[in-house]
Amino acid sequence: MKNTRKALAMTALLFAASGMAFANGGAQNQAGGEGGLIGVVMPTRSEERWIKDGNAVKEGLENLGYSVNLQYSDDDIPTQSRQIDDLITKGVKVLVIASIDGSALSNQLANAAAAKIPVISYDRLLMQSPNVDYYVSFDNYKVGGQMGDILITGLKLDQATAAKPVNVELFAGSPDDNNSIGFYQGAMDKLKPYFDKGALKVPSGQIDRAVIGTLRWDAAEAQKRMENLLSAYYSGNVVLNGILSPYDPISLACLEACKSVGYGSAPGKPLPVVGGQDCIVASVKSILAGEQYATVLKDTRSLGAATVTLVDTLMQGKTPTGLDTKSYNNGAKIVPSLLLDSVIVTKANVKPAVIDTGYHTTAELGL
Ligand code: BGC
Repeated sequence: MKNTRKALAMTALLFAASGMAFANGGAQNQAGGEGGLIGVVMPTRSEERWIKDGNAVKEGLENLGYSVNLQYSDDDIPTQSRQIDDLITKGVKVLVIASIDGSALSNQLANAAAAKIPVISYDRLLMQSPNVDYYVSFDNYKVGGQMGDILITGLKLDQATAAKPVNVELFAGSPDDNNSIGFYQGAMDKLKPYFDKGALKVPSGQIDRAVIGTLRWDAAEAQKRMENLLSAYYSGNVVLNGILSPYDPISLACLEACKSVGYGSAPGKPLPVVGGQDCIVASVKSILAGEQYATVLKDTRSLGAATVTLVDTLMQGKTPTGLDTKSYNNGAKIVPSLLLDSVIVTKANVKPAVIDTGYHTTAELGL
């Protein structure tokens, strides 16, 4: 256990303890962080990243001597609400929640506050509730900027002109996930100069986040939308050059839609440049095969470790410090946040960024 504590020391530095009691009165266990039940709620097992997240948080906490009750809810909001109420009844000391719909849990969060259980919003911000104590995530606006940078580089937008504009279509994440706003805004701010000078065009005209959102990040829905866009707006000489995608399964689904109408095989129709997010195994394979252009790696191990350190700090009755107290307003309060960095992965840096760091093994990648 000592070694694990050492391994977490880097993250722990971010939480220099003040020794003050936790403001919410929620740190019930003062016994040096040992023991106690922690509730961890993740949205779904059907996405690779949440399994990694759940495992990272659970293993990290167990290594420090905590018991963990980890729940997945198959992207079903009533199930997730029930799970949180159950965990409160079971007497968890801290709740770590990655929501499905960030605004749907206000009653549960009020119940947690009434029971003096601190709530950590994990990766996705819990919205419209004063009963959210901390937020641990990546810098979602920067992640969106990286999605924009991927298109700028992959499409060589600096060389594009209004005389020969580059055609893209835009996809956004689930409208009920606050992260979708950061991803979209970050990307669009990067792409704006190219739209402004006419070097970048969206032939469908579908630009508003409300129109291009993908409920529950559903790749099948995105694939259908891509198919419809291709048949409605891309005939004759109009060729799709790039796709803004906020999520690897959406990227792969869009590439499938493109392939089904000849992209990647017919003359003059190379596969469009598409980025993504999460660095899932299938996307890394696709990147290595020269299909998906890039992805954004958000290392779930770091997010898990940061969360474990935060939980441990609270359980020791200490107040975390060094947090961002400006960026994340959930509509009811500014939630103190710890925001980690993400990395763009292209074919050129798969080895150092993904394999050498052990994020995926060569066996997983079929290498
Ligand atoms: C996460 C992304 C993830 C998406 C779909 C977002 O809230 O930040 O990493 O790809 O949800 O699960």
